[in-house]
Amino acid sequence: MRILFTGGSGKAGRHTVAYLAECGHRIVNVDKIPLGHPEVNDRVADITDAGQMFDVMAAYAGYDELEPGTGVPAFDAVVHFAAVPRLLMTSDNECYRVNTLGTYNVIDAAVKFGVRKIIFASSETTYGVCFADGERKPEYLPIDEAHPVVPEDSYAMSKVVNEVTAQSFQRRSGFDIYGLRINNVIEPHEYERDFPHYIANPEVRRRNIFAYIDARDLGQMVKCCLNTDGLGFQIFNVANDEHSVESSTQELIETYYQGVPAADMTPTETFFANKKAKALLGFQPQYRWRDILKK
Ligand SMILES: NC(=O)c1ccc[n+]([C@@H]2O[C@H](COP(=O)([O-])OP(=O)(O)OC[C@H]3O[C@@H](n4cnc5c(N)ncnc54)[C@H](O)[C@@H]3O)[C@@H](O)[C@H]2O)c1
Repeated sequence: MRILFTGGSGKAGRHTVAYLAECGHRIVNVDKIPLGHPEVNDRVADITDAGQMFDVMAAYAGYDELEPGTGVPAFDAVVHFAAVPRLLMTSDNECYRVNTLGTYNVIDAAVKFGVRKIIFASSETTYGVCFADGERKPEYLPIDEAHPVVPEDSYAMSKVVNEVTAQSFQRRSGFDIYGLRINNVIEPHEYERDFPHYIANPEVRRRNIFAYIDARDLGQMVKCCLNTDGLGFQIFNVANDEHSVESSTQELIETYYQGVPAADMTPTETFFANKKAKALLGFQPQYRWRDILKK
């Protein structure tokens, strides 16, 4: 597929882009910073500028596309990751502006150019636990996509707004637009560096509901979305099958979630339910921290 990817130079994007390029897709990475991947075409552009988004949607990927003399090929899919990725990086209103306006511009241009598959990064923070002032417990466990979204900060707010924006565009266009509520992204080098600390201090993972997603598994998740058509508007949690700490589900519930209604869960089962992505898309995370630390 010919894919326009925004934010491919970032932490999550660079692994996802590399994974998709390896799968044989042609990628144009639209970012403020070039990625420099040998098989990916970089295009420096700002998602908050509608003109630039319309331009990149209608641009050649590389010089080779001039050769056939048949004009600019169409994109088959847009994957939108570019964002201010958390609070406390910019002013709150700038985070909200970039994320909401940028997402509007990317999806608007994609739909107007007839791109029938659009995948965008939402966030675990929509559930309100991650960036709460003090401790907020989930309403039930595991958290699935039906759990209320209760943001109280500008970043999580922007992601909830983006989901509404995306759903509105889907309703009008009938295209497939899938939003990914991504849990904490872990890059390959972070296991050895960070997981011993998580195992010794499980409380540091409370705001992520003790879950995680490997950056390469996120690539697989995007591939699953690209390969599955006809689902209309969908939201998917994206997480590994297991917790990011050694403590069992039962121990974590006793320590952190007393009084929270909980389903029957296996001892390592994630609190960030990924069952919907597995059932509808065939997603199957491959990278377990236990296996990686053993090597
Ligand atoms: N990293 C995580 O744990 C995590 C968890 C949940 C959701 N997400 C979401 O996943 C996506 C990627 O996150 P990340 O961790 O890779 O963030 P990142 O900051 O590492 O990457 C974001 C990329 O977007 C680009 N960007 C920012 N503003 C832009 C603009 N105006 N125009 C063009 N490009 C712009 C940046 O240059 C950067 O390369 C984001 O939407 C984020 O909200 C990330």
